[in-house]
Amino acid sequence: MRKRDLLTIKDFTAAEIAALLETAADYKSGKSAGKKPLAGRSIGMLFYKTSSRTRISFEVGIYQLGGQPLYVKTDDSQLSRGEPITDTARVFSRYLSGIVIRAFEHKIVAEFAEYASVPVINGLTDTHHPCQILADLMTIKEKKGQLKGVKIAYIGDGNNVANSLIEGAAQMAMDLTVAAPEGYEPTPDILKDTSGRITIVRDPKAAAAGADVLYTDVWISMGDKQDEAADKQLKFAAYQINDELLSYAKPDCIVLHCLPAHRGQEITDSVIEGQRSAVFDQAENRLHTQKAVLEMLIK
Ligand code: CP
Ligand code: NVA
Repeated sequence: MRKRDLLTIKDFTAAEIAALLETAADYKSGKSAGKKPLAGRSIGMLFYKTSSRTRISFEVGIYQLGGQPLYVKTDDSQLSRGEPITDTARVFSRYLSGIVIRAFEHKIVAEFAEYASVPVINGLTDTHHPCQILADLMTIKEKKGQLKGVKIAYIGDGNNVANSLIEGAAQMAMDLTVAAPEGYEPTPDILKDTSGRITIVRDPKAAAAGADVLYTDVWISMGDKQDEAADKQLKFAAYQINDELLSYAKPDCIVLHCLPAHRGQEITDSVIEGQRSAVFDQAENRLHTQKAVLEMLIK
């Protein structure tokens, strides 16, 4: 049987995502305590970009499943001296049972996965962040009791998180409205096959109106041109989740942010520290959902 990868949310069916969230909930509740599906296996983690949550939650999760995590910053590997990604993928596959990779261009991860003979998990690219969205879906299900029909408003940059959220929402029959400034909408291709459940608007208040979930992410991502940051901040000034915007959502709305957050930019301190914020449960759920992904893919 050919190995399976998680490069985008679309690599999993709705039924598989639902099952994966159950597995993750069993890890979280302790029902699966002592399960060691990675016993005796080593999992590589190849990172071109910095990370706090993804790195630590994968390292801890792999350890808890009985495996050995091996973190490789690309600067410390021969990739930094020009060794091709295609050779690296084949060599790593001879030592490891699976590989998590965080990169800039998505095509690097796709190429790596093509040449690797073991499962590859996308730990974030410039256009996708599937592991994040699995944790977000788990958090929404915990707080709202279901996914189907839940109304999400994503306010801000049409980046990797927004793209994967669109795929996740469409897959799980949720209604998602994205409010983004002109020129910063999600990748157009992502909107194909989304069954009309995704709406793109300009006005953050229109998106937030009646929402069950308000979600935002940084205005300037790791893969963005950093010299455009000042200009981008001006264009995004109206796209902040603050108490006023929160007042347009349902009274029991929850607020999500994948973190790291920039308080005072895309979200205010009072919202992220407020009663509606679920960001730390969301961050914790990275651990549980990734353990479920590892269990599912690494045979
Ligand atoms: N949310 C997220 O992926 O965080 P890190 O960049 O810290 O891994
Ligand atoms: N959009 C952000 C997400 C960080 C987890 C970035 O790519 O930097």
